[in-house]
Order: sequence, then structure tokens, then C-alpha cells
Amino acid sequence: MQKNKQLKIGVIVDGVGWSYTSWRHPNMPANASESVDFYVKKAIRAEEGKFDMVFLADVSHIGPGNIPHYLSMFEGVTILSALSMVTSHIGLAATIATSYADPFTVARQMASLDKISNGRAAWNAITSNPGGLANYSRRHLSKDDLYPMNKEFLEIVEGLWDSYEDDAFIRDKESGIFFNPRKMHPLNYRGKYFSVDGPLNISRSPQGRPVIFQAGTSETFMNIASKHAEGVLVNGDDYNYAKRFSEELRRRVVLAGRSPEDLLIMPTQHIIVGSTEAEADEKFQELQRLSPSGYRIPKPPFFGSAKTVADMIAYWHQTGVMDLLLLRQEHPSGIDDFIDLVVPILQEKGIFRREYESRTLRGNLGLPYPENRYANV
Ligand SMILES: Cc1cc2nc3c(=O)[nH]c(=O)nc-3n(C[C@H](O)[C@H](O)[C@H](O)COP(=O)(O)O)c2cc1C
Repeated sequence: MQKNKQLKIGVIVDGVGWSYTSWRHPNMPANASESVDFYVKKAIRAEEGKFDMVFLADVSHIGPGNIPHYLSMFEGVTILSALSMVTSHIGLAATIATSYADPFTVARQMASLDKISNGRAAWNAITSNPGGLANYSRRHLSKDDLYPMNKEFLEIVEGLWDSYEDDAFIRDKESGIFFNPRKMHPLNYRGKYFSVDGPLNISRSPQGRPVIFQAGTSETFMNIASKHAEGVLVNGDDYNYAKRFSEELRRRVVLAGRSPEDLLIMPTQHIIVGSTEAEADEKFQELQRLSPSGYRIPKPPFFGSAKTVADMIAYWHQTGVMDLLLLRQEHPSGIDDFIDLVVPILQEKGIFRREYESRTLRGNLGLPYPENRYANV
């Protein structure tokens, strides 16, 4: 059963939407995926709704057949840095694939975002599919390399985030002591794919280090995630699948010596909601009409009146299948509808906050503060 924690909510902002046709809706700015104003508006609105985070998915290689959003979009850390300056409480999560990036650079970028936002950054450390190898000078590697790389990458980034102990910087002008070199720690990691000396040149943030999310489905994925992930994205189309997957993942988290409370299960959901069932159906038909004739888009599992949707959310939450709801929206008014219609019901039920508990993402998610591995040694 679900522990007595409140539901958390994040929103995946996909610009013009995660479909081929949502950009054609009259109320959708056709350039939303590369409009800073659009992202600022969504982030401010999500913070008004007391959401835990804005989450950005990513893609590592494209071709003419991709959805419009992927054809011309922002790089995650760059846009989240901008959003950090117009928000104060909401978390900022970027997806960066470990198959293509460089661990020292990612550790540095994410730690910088974490400090710029005063402790609100999260990194979704996925492998992505192998296609991107061609864009990142790694044609010599194959699909079988992706998870071993992912494991090394995570070990390095976590190690680099402990380069300085929390109190390493003294900055005392009187004595002229800037920092305590005994509290600075090189890493000297030697792996099959990466070799990194460290230390990283940035101190720790108010939340210690960025929150780590992951997404995948395989056994290998689960073994790595059970050691490193603090939240895992799950495809939310099928309750029974999500339940089996989350139970298996929690079992492995315990085997890895962690508390199952320290891993958030985060199903993604395309919710279509109205104040009545008929209103939800009208929104669904609007999206349907944008699709080429003969093509029927499937109704999402979370569909209907605000009350119906809120009851479903409460059920998934209470049965341990959804610690954090990751909303994904195609209808231009989707986030507003959810905040205006569903959030008040969830608040009334007592399962979602009325005010932020903390100014850090970790604090709002109820995740533990990660002690520096060199503290008290
Ligand atoms: C819920 C979910 C979300 C994902 N999001 C992304 C993404 O944003 N970008 C991406 O390139 N791959 C994404 N992936 C793909 C994974 O990174 C991975 O390549 C894929 O799941 C294959 O690994 P597996 O065999 O462990 O499932 C996602 C996978 C899942 C299950």
C-alpha cells in the first residue's frame, strides 16, 4: 500500500505537444517548442498550481518523420536556466542521455542549474535509443554498450557532486582563507567508457545535489535504477503493467539496501478533462478533428469529468502505482484545465498540497538530503 505521502505532480512541457497534429489547434502557438514566452507562461502557471516540477523530455537524433515538437526545440538545461529566474519553488527537470553526453560536463551543467535555481534541479539520466550514437561521434559503440555506459556515467556524476563537502568554502576575507582543501576530493574514476579525475569546480547546492530520475523498462535498467534513481518514469497507459513494474522496482530498491520510500514512481498521463464528461469529450473531438481523416487517436485512460479524473488519480496514488503524476498535455488548455478543475478536488481530498512545503525540489518531493560521502569520515 501507498505510504502516507501526498501525491506529487509534474508537467512535461512538450512545446506544441507530443503528437503530429496538436500544433494545428487554433489556440496553440505554432512555434511553442522554441518560444521562451510559451515556456515561461507554462512554468509560472504550473507554479501557481503548486506543481512539483516542470519536466523536459528530449530526443538525440531526428529526421523528417519526427513529431513537430522534436524538429525544432530548446536544449533542456538552457531553457530551464531561464525558467529558474521567473519561478521560485517549482522544480526543473532536464533529460540528458548518458549515451551521448560527457559526464564531467553534465555534472557541471546540472550542478550549475541546481545552484542558479537555489536547489530545484533534477536530471533524467536515460540511455535514449542507439540512433543518437551517429550524432555524437560514437558510431563504434552499439546498443549493448548503452546501459554499461549509463552505470559508469551515473557513478561518475554522483562522485563529482561530492567533490566538495558542504562546508568546504569558508570565504573569510579577514583571515584570507577561501576554502578548506581537505574538504575537496578528487574522484580518479577509471571505467571502460569514461576516465575522469575531478574534482568538479562547483560547490554543493541547498538540496545537496540535483535529484536523479531515470526511464526504461528492461531488467538491466531496473538494476541500475534501483541503485541510482530517486524517481522513475513509467508509461501510464496500463494500470496493471504500472503496478507490476513499480512493485518489481521497489523490490530491487530494497535489495540494493535503500528504503522503498526513497524512490518515486512517476507514471506519465495524457489527461483530457472537462467540468463534465461532455466537455472533456468536446476537447477530445477538437484534437480528433486535427488528425488526418480516417485516423483515430485513442482516448487516454484518464479521461472525463474532473471528479472522475480526480478519483482515478486518487486510486492510482493510494494503491502505490503513482507517487508522482507526470502530466503530458496536447490540448492547449490542458494544463489550465487540470489546475482549475482537478487540483482543487485533489486538495479537498487532502492528497495534494495547498502550499509548497519547501523551496527545494528534494524538500517538496520528500526525498532525503544526500550526505556527502566524505562527511564524517
Ligand atoms: C517512460 C519512458 C520515458 C522515456 N523518455 C525518453 C526521452 O525523453 N528521450 C529518449 O531519448 N528516450 C526516452 N525513453 C527511452 C529510454 O531512454 C530507453 O532508450 C528505452 O526505454 C530502452 O531501454 P529499456 O530496454 O530499458 O526500456 C523513455 C523510456 C520510457 C520507458
